[in-house]
Amino acid sequence: MQKPLIAGNWKMNTTVHEGADLVIKLRELIKSIDSVDVVLAPPFTSIQHISHLVADSSIQLAGQNVFWKEDGAYTGEVSAQMLRATGCSYVIIGHSERRELFGDTDDRVNKKAHAAVRAGLKPIICVGETLEEKEAGRTLSKVKGQIMRALAGLKAGALKELTIAYEPIWAIGTGQSATPETAEEVHNSIRELLYEDYDSSAAKRIRIIYGGSVKPDNIDSLMAMPNIDDALVGGASLKAEDFARIVRFEST
Ligand code: PGA
Repeated sequence: MQKPLIAGNWKMNTTVHEGADLVIKLRELIKSIDSVDVVLAPPFTSIQHISHLVADSSIQLAGQNVFWKEDGAYTGEVSAQMLRATGCSYVIIGHSERRELFGDTDDRVNKKAHAAVRAGLKPIICVGETLEEKEAGRTLSKVKGQIMRALAGLKAGALKELTIAYEPIWAIGTGQSATPETAEEVHNSIRELLYEDYDSSAAKRIRIIYGGSVKPDNIDSLMAMPNIDDALVGGASLKAEDFARIVRFEST
């Protein structure tokens, strides 16, 4: 059994100093918890500093994005090797904000996933449907297509370290989380898809994590669902008390 994973995506928030304050508070608040894998994704500019602040804790770090080349003339980009060297063990790939605002196609997501695996980073691949797609009943076909294209060509061994984040786009930053039952249904279908397409030991180990307006007041009911073991938190990860409460979720 893997530990539940609770990841905080800080997005484009916090200067180095603000990030340091946040992580120092958070460390204190969750220091007695060792039953959860806690991952933070600060902006690139803070990762190195924060990696020193969490060095003697169990908090792990993630990049919010990565480029698929190792080095070279790619102004503004950061490679998987660079993220590893700053202390990241995970990287978020294909977040809907990257897809919608910065042109991350399924093909790019796939290249980034390969680059992450090559560098020894654990990819957290985000998928999810728009409100329009949800209303048209296209949630599962959208999400399944995104997953198949994101994972194309990855070996079973690499899949064991993979996390898929189901983040309905209409739930991100809106305060309107998917209901636990809706999220559970999608998680369950993703798990079935993985069993159909990959060997069962890999399919079993892949984490399927929910994101989209996860807050202290809905984490317990989400985590109580049999197929929701983990959460990716945006806004609420910027408040140490709220994120600590999410990490201390109570599932029944
Ligand atoms: P949110 O963001 O928790 O603010 O909705 C989630 C995410 O974008 O990962």
